[in-house]
Amino acid sequence: MIKEADKANFKKISIHDLKVGMFIVNLGRSWIQHPFFRNQLTIDSPKKIEKLKKYGIQEVYIDPQRGLDVPSPRGAEKVPAPESRGLNPPPGGSAVRMEEPQPPALHPSFPPLRGAGISPIQATGYVPSIEVLAPNPIKGQPMGEEGTDAYPESPEKSDSVAFWEENIGPGGEGLFSPESPLRVPFDDEIPFIQEIHAARRVKEEAEKVVRNVMTAVRMGKSIEGDRVKRAVHSMVDSILRNHDALTSLTRMKSYDEYMFVHSLDVCILSLSMARHLSLPREEMVEIGIGALLHDVGKMKIDPQILKKPATLSETEWVQVRKHPIYSLEMMEESKGIPEQAKQLALQHHERFNGNGYPFGLKGEAISLSGQIAGIVDFYDAVTTDRPFQKAVQPHEAIRKIYERGMEEFNRLLMERFIQCIGIYPFGTLVLLDTEEMGIICGVKPNMLLRPDVLIIHRDSKTPYPQPFLADLTEKTAQSSWYKRSIVMPLDPQRWNIRTEDYLRDLNRTLRGSVPAV
Ligand SMILES: [Fe+2]
Repeated sequence: MIKEADKANFKKISIHDLKVGMFIVNLGRSWIQHPFFRNQLTIDSPKKIEKLKKYGIQEVYIDPQRGLDVPSPRGAEKVPAPESRGLNPPPGGSAVRMEEPQPPALHPSFPPLRGAGISPIQATGYVPSIEVLAPNPIKGQPMGEEGTDAYPESPEKSDSVAFWEENIGPGGEGLFSPESPLRVPFDDEIPFIQEIHAARRVKEEAEKVVRNVMTAVRMGKSIEGDRVKRAVHSMVDSILRNHDALTSLTRMKSYDEYMFVHSLDVCILSLSMARHLSLPREEMVEIGIGALLHDVGKMKIDPQILKKPATLSETEWVQVRKHPIYSLEMMEESKGIPEQAKQLALQHHERFNGNGYPFGLKGEAISLSGQIAGIVDFYDAVTTDRPFQKAVQPHEAIRKIYERGMEEFNRLLMERFIQCIGIYPFGTLVLLDTEEMGIICGVKPNMLLRPDVLIIHRDSKTPYPQPFLADLTEKTAQSSWYKRSIVMPLDPQRWNIRTEDYLRDLNRTLRGSVPAV
């Protein structure tokens, strides 16, 4: 509804007088009755006008201060047409973006900005001019009727992007609380492309250790604490050298070995989080050991229960809820396992509101390591296919964590976790408002909706021969608005795009130009 006081500033016009460049402040009906997420939007293409007509909209209110006015009777005012993609502010108006006409309703605790984070472009040393091999350029074409995932005619923001912009601002800068000022992440010692090869080796070694631990426990032997500790030290070294390299490998999951892969991924993500929290190295190691072993107690549970695709019976559920206690018992029986690691394993299913298990601990009664593991374990579990649940995309898991975070998790830690891995984590396939398609390859903790993206496709059908890196904080020369913005995340499986191939080729291509470790 238009307020009486505002009516003098707006003009009610027929849909037939609507022109590209005008700014609509009210569509005259609920947002659920038309294809746009808000009632306010910039008309940046004729397609939008056609869409509105298609939905039976007859009249709209426009704001001439924010966009084009209706032509004067004499037709004397000639106003240049805005750019076709709607990224620039309308002539004479403020920097208004399509469907983002007003400052969004930020997080209640939205503080003043504190400067940009460290650009992963700087961290990686990667520059757009470097040629990158494009793997199987045909793969990204939309699939047939069954798997249609074609772009919208004129990309509209997805519900995901609209949700985050409303909650944390158009750049994603609003996700930190005044009571927990964001500490500037410390610099990586070396770029991503130098560390990634070492990170692969570190992960391979850790995989061997986890397999040995699982096998030993299955045979009734104790855990080799010292070996676990050495593997975790190597992972900590890697994360301290470069934060993104080892963490990026957690996306490359093998779905058939959940227990093993999950343990390793929870370890890596917990270490990443510990680093983001600036915890001392020794504490990182203890958290890493606990995370690597947190589910080892499941070895004592009947595998048929763990693999059951249906709802568990009460008796089976009682068994499952005991696994943190079993993990603790096994760690107690082994030498060299620090106390904090044991606490993490025992408490990784406790929840901040007391709804967790095995003891229903509440709030700060749960150790920091238990709280970290609770968030990370949840994230990794829901992003992996299981017999009883279909995996969700990482960005969907992040939203679940955000929505649950107010109750189930410590809100400050939840926010720090999201800053740590991003709203659209490393490797996420996204559609941009330029109709380009890209892969997230650098998260900025202070600008979560403006990551670095490897641009791989010009549009839905045309891959770039040379993918290049784009910094989404970059603005156009003519205006103060962003050159590129994320419109929606895409499911790489539906587009038949193996994002890891692109990232792997990126590394291979750059290896020749950067000294290997
Ligand atoms: Fe667990």
